[in-house]
Amino acid sequence: MDALAGRVAVVTGGGGGIGTAMARAFAARGATLVLADLDAAALERAATALRRDGATVYTIPTDVGDRAQVEALAEETVRRCGAVHVLCNNAGIALFGEIAQATHKDWEYTMRVNFWGVVHGVETFAPRLIAQRSGHMVNTASMAGCVGMQWLGVYCASKFAVVGLSEALFRELGRHGVGVSVLCPMIVDTRINENSARLRPRELANPGEAFVPPAAAMAGGVIAPDEVARRVVRAVDRRDFYIFTHPEQRDILRRRAARQDRMFEPDLW
Ligand SMILES: NC(=O)c1ccc[n+]([C@@H]2O[C@H](COP(=O)([O-])OP(=O)(O)OC[C@H]3O[C@@H](n4cnc5c(N)ncnc54)[C@H](O)[C@@H]3O)[C@@H](O)[C@H]2O)c1
Repeated sequence: MDALAGRVAVVTGGGGGIGTAMARAFAARGATLVLADLDAAALERAATALRRDGATVYTIPTDVGDRAQVEALAEETVRRCGAVHVLCNNAGIALFGEIAQATHKDWEYTMRVNFWGVVHGVETFAPRLIAQRSGHMVNTASMAGCVGMQWLGVYCASKFAVVGLSEALFRELGRHGVGVSVLCPMIVDTRINENSARLRPRELANPGEAFVPPAAAMAGGVIAPDEVARRVVRAVDRRDFYIFTHPEQRDILRRRAARQDRMFEPDLW
């Protein structure tokens, strides 16, 4: 049975970047879309463009950091569409800077969206997918959820959590016929930096200047969101767990695994 044609796909952070690209790719395969985003204007812009291309799109303004709003998203999706088949917990923000200089509000803002946003999606939607005994969840982490990166420590902590919970979910939901993937891109051409500053809640704002990322943190190949989305669709079709997007990831992961493996050499044991 086709995982996407005639199915209902919910995408958080669907108002821009990778989220809109995933929605476009799902719609091209015949899925009905439910887009959720904190930025209601961006949500409507994305929906208008997708509808122009023939997609059926519902929009539900949602702050994923608020559990009640994510519960309302699930209820409203089922009310309008009858079911949920694919959930992409994709909304996220990124802050740059040294861990030692991060404020407590930097931690709270990052974890609120990147960690709690995914947890809210899981606790709200997983029971529904289990009850259906079908469907697929895609959690957007990052390569920064697989390897610790300097200047991105707070972000890494939030994304490592997403990778860990997704690995456990893959095993647990798999027993119920539900697929799980974790999306781990490196740099993708989106407006995440400006959106992260613009959407930051006032109560979690820092006094003073926003941190400007050093050039080193931004080095590496940049790919288009549509390329990421193509890989997401393939992973949903094949029920792959990891979704990597950049060929250079292979060497980085191998070097990390080799450093771990070295610690098991007999001379160190
Ligand atoms: N762009 C990259 O290089 C990159 C790399 C790795 C991982 N990611 C991850 O990909 C995901 C999508 O990011 P993107 O690059 O497309 O950025 P983006 O800013 O273009 O899209 C993120 C969307 O999430 C929305 N959003 C932010 N806070 C929200 C909240 N509290 N509730 C609901 N929606 C909210 C924003 O309005 C925006 O539309 C994020 O989880 C990000 O961490 C991005």
